[in-house]
Amino acid sequence: KEKNAAPVSKNIVKSDSLVSAEDRQNLLNQKGSTLWLTGLSGSGKSTVARQLERELTDMGHACYILDGDNVRHGLNRDLGFSAEDRSENIRRIAEVSRLFNDAGIIVITAFISPTVQDRKGAREIIGEGFVEVFVDTPLEICEQRDPKGLYKKARAGEIPQFTGISAPYEPPVNPEIVLNAADAPVEDSVDAIVSKLRDDGIIG
Ligand code: PPS
Repeated sequence: KEKNAAPVSKNIVKSDSLVSAEDRQNLLNQKGSTLWLTGLSGSGKSTVARQLERELTDMGHACYILDGDNVRHGLNRDLGFSAEDRSENIRRIAEVSRLFNDAGIIVITAFISPTVQDRKGAREIIGEGFVEVFVDTPLEICEQRDPKGLYKKARAGEIPQFTGISAPYEPPVNPEIVLNAADAPVEDSVDAIVSKLRDDGIIG
């Protein structure tokens, strides 16, 4: 089953909006963009995402987190953790991010997104607003933290295809931002991302 190879029907025609991306930028005083956090389970993606969402909101910016809670329980509830399902998970998240970005919103995604190829696909779907953020916490530390007890279960063979244990994680080759979330306080990670958003002209 190749879900992501489904062709677009010939009878569907795109219609252009009367509102431009620039109109929306002027309205919201920001450019729609996607901060794509990638890293192992327990690396700190959600912690950084939540603090960043708080900070950007306090600064007056419209932003929204996409993570497992609102995606794997809803839109992607039909998907598991096979390589194929993970690819489809990432593809759909990228398409949703693109729509949010088109609406002018800053999206913060927090998914393992373990393969270079799937993240490349997300970058292609989202376009120039894509900012890859590697939450670079080593496996040993994620496993020590084990906030949900999943590494213990995976080591015991109770969770098949667990990322880092029995399924691969490919670190980003050339991410826009690398976060040392193992040692540095979460505020430092948030500051690094906010600075990048300023440098790129995504926020003023
Ligand atoms: S992926 O690879 O991007 O499609 O994964 P993602 O949607 O981010 O989901 C990861 C969360 O699902 C839980 N979980 C697993 N993770 C990895 N491998 C397996 N087999 C697995 N089964 C369940 C786990 O809690 C992940 O949450 P985080 O927040 O990353 O710790």
